Amino acid sequence: MILTRLKDETRQSHQATEQQLDLFNRMLTKSDYSRLLGRFWGFYVPIESKLNQVVGLNELPLNLPARQKKPLLERDLTSLDWNELAIQALPWCADLPALDSVPHALGCLYVLEGSTLGGQIISRLLQERFGITPDNGGRFFASYGPDVRSMWKAFGETVTGYSTGPQVEDAIVDSAIETFAAFGRWFQHWNQD
Ligand code: HEM
Repeated sequence: MILTRLKDETRQSHQATEQQLDLFNRMLTKSDYSRLLGRFWGFYVPIESKLNQVVGLNELPLNLPARQKKPLLERDLTSLDWNELAIQALPWCADLPALDSVPHALGCLYVLEGSTLGGQIISRLLQERFGITPDNGGRFFASYGPDVRSMWKAFGETVTGYSTGPQVEDAIVDSAIETFAAFGRWFQHWNQD
């Protein structure tokens, strides 16, 4: 079953990512948070743009437009007083996984969509530490708000429906692992320098 495989085979990558971000210890000020969001912008904008170009992905019931995080990040950065020029000047990650097929796109989306689950924890942290809510700079981590679970379930059903055999499953899992790796490289030392 593809969802079990994804969870099992990316468990280590997830753990490494969580430890690497180490938000509980490394996001201590509002300005740390602001810097983190800028880094997320540089990862999500090019990766969403690549996903939007994958032939055939649009034909799956994914509701991709509703899953785009770029508008949420833009709103948050603006709330945190980034002006348009500063946002445009942010570096973009060029070292992204190859998204040249629907299975690869689904593996990548698994990582991006799964991160909305952990995002709920971050969302609470933002509120407790900085008084940041979805309306004043915390929209990205809150993502779909009360619909996080149902959006995750719907995504899982689409991936399951698409996964017709071991070869497709292997491609999805490989791409999920690659996406975690690219994320890890982009966020290496994000707040240690
Ligand atoms: C740094 C803080 C993070 C924390 C505390 C965290 C926490 C969690 C938790 C608690 C879940 C399970 C939710 C549930 O099943 O109810 C989860 C799932 C997941 N997270 Fe994270 N996460 C973090 C970062 C990330 C990041 C940065 C990514 C991706 C780049 C990510 C990708 C995923 C994925 C794909 C799942 C789904 C696992 C599955 O059920 O198949 N997480 N996370």
